[in-house]
Amino acid sequence: MWFLWIPVTLILIKVLNKFSNGKCYSDNVMSGQVVIVTGANSGIGYATALELAKRGARVIAACRDDDKGNKAVESIIKATKNKSIKYIHLDLSSLESVRKFVDTFKRTEAKLDVLINNAGASGMGKEKTADGIVRDMQVNHFGPFLLTLLLVPILKKSAPSRVINVSSILHKFGTIHKINEEGKYGYLQAFCNSKLCNVLFSNELARRLEGTGVDVNSLHPGQVNTCLYKSTAIEKLRSLILYTFFKSPLEGAQTSLYLAISEECDQITGKYFADCEESNMSLKAQDECLAKQLWSMSEELVKLKPDEMI
Ligand SMILES: NC(=O)c1ccc[n+]([C@@H]2O[C@H](COP(=O)([O-])OP(=O)(O)OC[C@H]3O[C@@H](n4cnc5c(N)ncnc54)[C@H](OP(=O)(O)O)[C@@H]3O)[C@@H](O)[C@H]2O)c1
Repeated sequence: MWFLWIPVTLILIKVLNKFSNGKCYSDNVMSGQVVIVTGANSGIGYATALELAKRGARVIAACRDDDKGNKAVESIIKATKNKSIKYIHLDLSSLESVRKFVDTFKRTEAKLDVLINNAGASGMGKEKTADGIVRDMQVNHFGPFLLTLLLVPILKKSAPSRVINVSSILHKFGTIHKINEEGKYGYLQAFCNSKLCNVLFSNELARRLEGTGVDVNSLHPGQVNTCLYKSTAIEKLRSLILYTFFKSPLEGAQTSLYLAISEECDQITGKYFADCEESNMSLKAQDECLAKQLWSMSEELVKLKPDEMI
């Protein structure tokens, strides 16, 4: 009979986890607000887009795969009856695609209230892209860097507005040393590096946009049961372990939603959150010199034009 304790213990862990997860309790509606969610076709991004749509926001689902992007939009419209959900193609591993996305967005939308840099990947290959940037780094940091900077003018015009960067607690193990050297880092280390970049970028952007009404924060969503883990070695044990110990995508979306919606976050900028409350970022992530160094490297690698710099 001892083996009965295994499912009982797993259920208890699941219940305990449910109660300890942060939740966005704000009942603010988002009608009239325009929100971009990158990677809105799956995992945390889909759950975030769905919840924002339920609250009446106009959600722009920025995804790299037309089929997946369109299906996500259809499914969100069906579930929420909110018809103002739109797909625009965005492949963060291509600087040209990022520029095209911004052109299309600016042509079709008059404002931008919230930008959620959610898309992220790991283990996409250690080679460089056509832009000469290590692929995982481009998807997780350099692409979102260019996207955000190109959207800064419209974010300023739409102020008060918010930028939310989905990082990870793993930023604590990251470095920015030689991050664009091909084959220098394994997938896990490259992921940690890119997530440190998310927090450094967030903090530096918050400093540069101080007084403009554009708030910028980063977050750790928790350990969430999503496709992110499909390409890792733990795949075989996936279902049970991930279901028991990890958050669901909706639970993982709570801190993004809190930062996008909650009135408590008005004028909060340059902070790092987890479970819907401010949390400690690593000492490295707070290093202003490092953030400036990363900023210059990013401007150069994404070939930012002088009039696009801030
Ligand atoms: N899950 C966790 O435990 C966890 C923990 C810490 C941080 N995070 C962060 O949370 C964010 C969301 O991840 P998730 O867990 O929800 O994983 P996910 O389900 O794999 O979602 C990632 C999203 O990013 C998109 N994406 C990948 N490469 C892209 C590219 N080149 N251009 C545009 N979009 C691209 C994916 O599109 P496709 O479907 O086409 O691949 C997908 O929509 C990521 O930034 C991740 O680093 C997750």
